[in-house]
Amino acid sequence: MNEIAPAPVKHLPDAQTVTTVRHWTDRLFSFRVLRPASLRFRSGEFVMIGLLGDNGKPLLRAYSIASPSWDEELEFYSIKVPDGPLTSRLQHIQPGDEIILRPKPVGTLVLDALLPGKRLWFLATGTGIAPFASLMRDPETYEKYDQVIMMHTCRSCAELDYGRELVEGLKDDPLIGEMVGDKLRYYPTTTRENFSHMGRITDNLTSGKVFADLGIPPMDKAHDRAMVCGSLAFNIDVKAVLESFGLTEGANSDPQEYVVEKAFVGDGI
Ligand code: FAD
Ligand code: A2P
Repeated sequence: MNEIAPAPVKHLPDAQTVTTVRHWTDRLFSFRVLRPASLRFRSGEFVMIGLLGDNGKPLLRAYSIASPSWDEELEFYSIKVPDGPLTSRLQHIQPGDEIILRPKPVGTLVLDALLPGKRLWFLATGTGIAPFASLMRDPETYEKYDQVIMMHTCRSCAELDYGRELVEGLKDDPLIGEMVGDKLRYYPTTTRENFSHMGRITDNLTSGKVFADLGIPPMDKAHDRAMVCGSLAFNIDVKAVLESFGLTEGANSDPQEYVVEKAFVGDGI
């Protein structure tokens, strides 16, 4: 391979073998790795993964686990940053290659960080859908909530494909299809390419369009719970919208009505 191919990480204690890789667009790909036998995590959490850098030291980044906690493999959904130290290499991985995976899952996007409720909202932009790809496949999500609403917004239609294919496959999933049933409502939108539904998540919530389109009542503190994952600017703006509906932010140590996690750390932040 060429010089940006991943360096071999064999013999490292945290090496895991890649099983499948799928490229969705020139900026997005997903891959699966074998799961360390000892790794336990809660759906929605993230781990540190990476490759060996040029200096021979691990080059690690935070990644949400996109597969549910019952899955035998681990799935990740990744951006390709052209000059990104990790993803300029990681995007070239092939089945049989190894990556480094530090088996210490953490994160706030877990069901335990929310008070009991009836409707659960997943609000994501871009790769921020990854933790919800995990939670949408977890039976506990459907045990705890009557309705689950996945709002995912990207600039273009192709960027929605990973989430759309996942959601479309859920109803026929032999393991959790029956639990999902009609409980999962999917509301994808684009902002820069024509699509059946368009607009930012913040705008579709404040205008009430999403409630009208889905034929459901507006959010309220008594019944609605939310999880948010996107850029810092997105997270800040969504928080203000959720607070305007009366929801307050929670954490693992202090469950409330919504929780937030950054999908990535932006330039200069
Ligand atoms: P970096 O030097 O890390 O990033 C360079 C620049 O690229 C950033 O400053 C930012 O502007 C942009 N960027 C980085 N990541 C993204 C992204 N995901 N979407 C849009 N722009 C981005 N990334 C994923 O692709 N999938 C995940 O599931 C994921 N989960 C994360 C969970 C947490 C809690 C955090 C903090 C970050 C997560 N990230 C995720 C981002 C990830 O850690 C890396 O930033 C990303 O893999 C790029 O690494 P890099 O070394 O190539 O570039
Ligand atoms: P927009 O196209 O109107 O900027 P990005 O690719 O820049 O990470 O953005 C991913 C998606 O998130 C885009 O559809 C973008 O809409 C939307 N978005 C970006 N910032 C915000 C924000 N502060 N509030 C709501 N949506 C946002």
